[in-house]
Amino acid sequence: MTSTHQQRVVIAIDGPAGAGKSTIAKRLAQRLGFTYIDTGAMYRVVALWGLRQNVAMTDMHRMEQLAIAADIDLAPGRISLNGEDVTEAIRTPEASSGASQVAVIPGVRRAMVAKQREIGQHTNVVMEGRDIGTVVFPDANVKIYLDDDPGERARRRAEEMRAKGENPDLRALAAQMRERDQRDSTRADSPLAQAPDAIYLDSTGLSLDEVEEAILKIVRNRITNGKDFS
Ligand code: DC
Repeated sequence: MTSTHQQRVVIAIDGPAGAGKSTIAKRLAQRLGFTYIDTGAMYRVVALWGLRQNVAMTDMHRMEQLAIAADIDLAPGRISLNGEDVTEAIRTPEASSGASQVAVIPGVRRAMVAKQREIGQHTNVVMEGRDIGTVVFPDANVKIYLDDDPGERARRRAEEMRAKGENPDLRALAAQMRERDQRDSTRADSPLAQAPDAIYLDSTGLSLDEVEEAILKIVRNRITNGKDFS
């Protein structure tokens, strides 16, 4: 039998907006020496390009063309579109809403999923999004569905924005997140859903360290039979 150490490992983390997926996925990747992939950032990049080109987010044909043509580079901590660093530009409310709208389009999803599979084919990854455990890597070694109380999720997102010098209206932000979650979980193609074999983790009341430890325990059990990664 092949040693598990020689196979590439995929840790899939899905869940609604503001559940803390990015923070936890980044910490896990760092801890394990894996590559961190933020798939939401990829949909945001496509939306940003469409917004800049004045393409309607509902224009399925044009948005698919942009998704196929987009040269998206995910360097650690930075993301670029056709060579331009758009790390900050994709975090506006327009890009958030746009990403959720273009993510409904099957052709856009096909293009993104192909890029995501390509990245995860050869390297150990912690990949976070909405459909990683269900569609992108249904054979992922570890699948986590990370959830949190909706009020807590909105507060977490507001705190991130304040840290960047913004002054968000908590009620408006909570409403935008509700709208996005509703669209993301009811669309026909690859809706946000917990994979049947995913572990549901509710982080309500847990510290970041506690969530990280809980997931690491699952990873160790699934991949190294309880041993630490070296
Ligand atoms: O994780 P995020 O908030 O940056 O994601 C932005 C939007 O992209 C989200 O509202 C839905 C979409 N998305 C998706 O449909 N599938 C993914 N794997 C990741 C994100």
